[in-house]
Amino acid sequence: MPSIQGAVTIERGVALRAYNTFGLPAIAHTLVRVRSDADVRRVVDHPELGRAKKLILGAGSNLILSRDPDCVVVRVEIMGRRVLSQDDDAVVVEAGAGETWHDVVAWTLQQGCPGLENLALIPGTVGAAPVQNIGAYGIELKDRFESLDAVDLVTGRSVTLSPQACRFGYRDSVFKHSGFGGLAGKSLITRVRMRLPRRWAPVLGYLDLERKVHETGITAPDAQTVFDWVCTIRRNKLPDPRDIGNVGSFFKNPVVSAEQCKDIIARDPHIVHYPLADGSYKLAAGWLIDACGWKGKSIGRAAVYDKQALVLVNRGGASGAEVLMLARAIQESVYGRFGIRLEPEPVVV
Ligand code: EPU
Repeated sequence: MPSIQGAVTIERGVALRAYNTFGLPAIAHTLVRVRSDADVRRVVDHPELGRAKKLILGAGSNLILSRDPDCVVVRVEIMGRRVLSQDDDAVVVEAGAGETWHDVVAWTLQQGCPGLENLALIPGTVGAAPVQNIGAYGIELKDRFESLDAVDLVTGRSVTLSPQACRFGYRDSVFKHSGFGGLAGKSLITRVRMRLPRRWAPVLGYLDLERKVHETGITAPDAQTVFDWVCTIRRNKLPDPRDIGNVGSFFKNPVVSAEQCKDIIARDPHIVHYPLADGSYKLAAGWLIDACGWKGKSIGRAAVYDKQALVLVNRGGASGAEVLMLARAIQESVYGRFGIRLEPEPVVV
């Protein structure tokens, strides 16, 4: 039964299966929901919750619960979206951290503001988008990011963070790190602002989108067309978490030096690799896992998706331990064959 303490409603013994898209069973001993900055401050000021370790939860679409979290779970339900400002160069839009990312992307297009269409259908909330610097089809959040508001979970103070302060990297930011200077569990994102340049051109460099251009003969698609293409591409190769539990890509695409890449190509000429600006190469982790024969294989109820080897799925009733066992077995076999260590993309608790 929820108990009311001040204005903070504390829920005890909450089943988290419905709160993570992999559908993993875990129990939160304590869960609170925040719907405003003031709610966050109430949690910070609360005698029991204030000092407790915290797990910030959005849609749970990039989270693997391998056990019951030993901390207070704070579910972010801060809503709202608006066009904040516009000038000749750009439109700045703002959305609450609890909003569903895809709905906000669709809404920006309805407002006549293109720029986020390549990021359509990425599961999760707006507040989670900067945490792992979501990206797809040639665009990352950081390319459209203006700033975000967060509440410091120690002082209760509201802060605004610039792109530099967020330290965005490939599927990475300051919010994923708990060591020195990291903000994981220390700061709660409340609102995110995106800058959508007026001078828009479609970003079509990604192979799957190039294919759409060839298939349709549309060489200059508008933003809505790109949005529709991205939705179709994703629906064809990525499972919908509402039907099959998953967290999207389970591993990051590894980056290797030019020598390492040459060495691997000498052994496996077909390896999918992309040159990066700094001379290194990004390898397709999905290809590496596929090449090791993992597609469709499972351990217990945790499986490798049969249309995309980078995605692990819940065949129904998987435990966190089974998912981790499968992930480790994949890491070992990729390391054994290619000498490459795959790093998980989701946050593992
Ligand atoms: N491939 C295989 N076998 C597989 C899977 C992939 O050979 O089983 C090959 C594909 O043929 C392709 C290459 O590997 O040549 C890359 O595959 P894909 O285009 O599906 O993209 P990805 O690198 O696996 C990344 C992101 C996705 C994002 C897509 C599109 C990461 C870890 N993943 O996937 O992001 O949607 O590109 O931009 O960077 C996510 O982060 O959760 C996610 C879904």
